[in-house]
Amino acid sequence: MLLAQALGNLVENALKYAPAQGVIAIHARRSSPLSIELVVADNGPGVPDQEKKKVVERFYRGDASRGTPGVGLGLSLVSAVAQLHGGSLVLGDNLPGLRAVLSIDAHAIAVAKQA
Ligand SMILES: Nc1ncnc2c1ncn2[C@@H]1O[C@H](COP(=O)(O)OP(=O)(O)OP(=O)(O)O)[C@@H](O)[C@H]1O
Ligand SMILES: [Mg+2]
Repeated sequence: MLLAQALGNLVENALKYAPAQGVIAIHARRSSPLSIELVVADNGPGVPDQEKKKVVERFYRGDASRGTPGVGLGLSLVSAVAQLHGGSLVLGDNLPGLRAVLSIDAHAIAVAKQA
């Protein structure tokens, strides 16, 4: 459920910040035997390098958010969920747009399924 919420937050951001008629790509892949990546990429304004660390902090909202509703909690939750699953959230560039990579430890999923 937490992973679904995290993925939902990334898709919500892509919908909110990419332009109307924008393109959003979602991929899931086994990046290594031990790691799974969930990738959400859009062709909006993206996040400048100097802001990439800040946007993951609670309540931080960047320039792209002006005029859109929100409180700045979405990405901090995604990052927390990734860490809870032994992984990380890495923000990259989709040239143009944001490419958010949520990686998780494949073992964490196997354990959750057994519970
Ligand atoms: N896909 C994206 N494209 C461009 N900027 C983004 C994107 N996703 C996030 N951001 C930037 O990162 C900031 C933080 O995102 P986050 O999801 O944490 O908060 P929010 O979307 O502003 O509000 P909330 O998610 O709490 O409704 C946003 O305010 C925006 O500036
Ligand atoms: Mg958000």
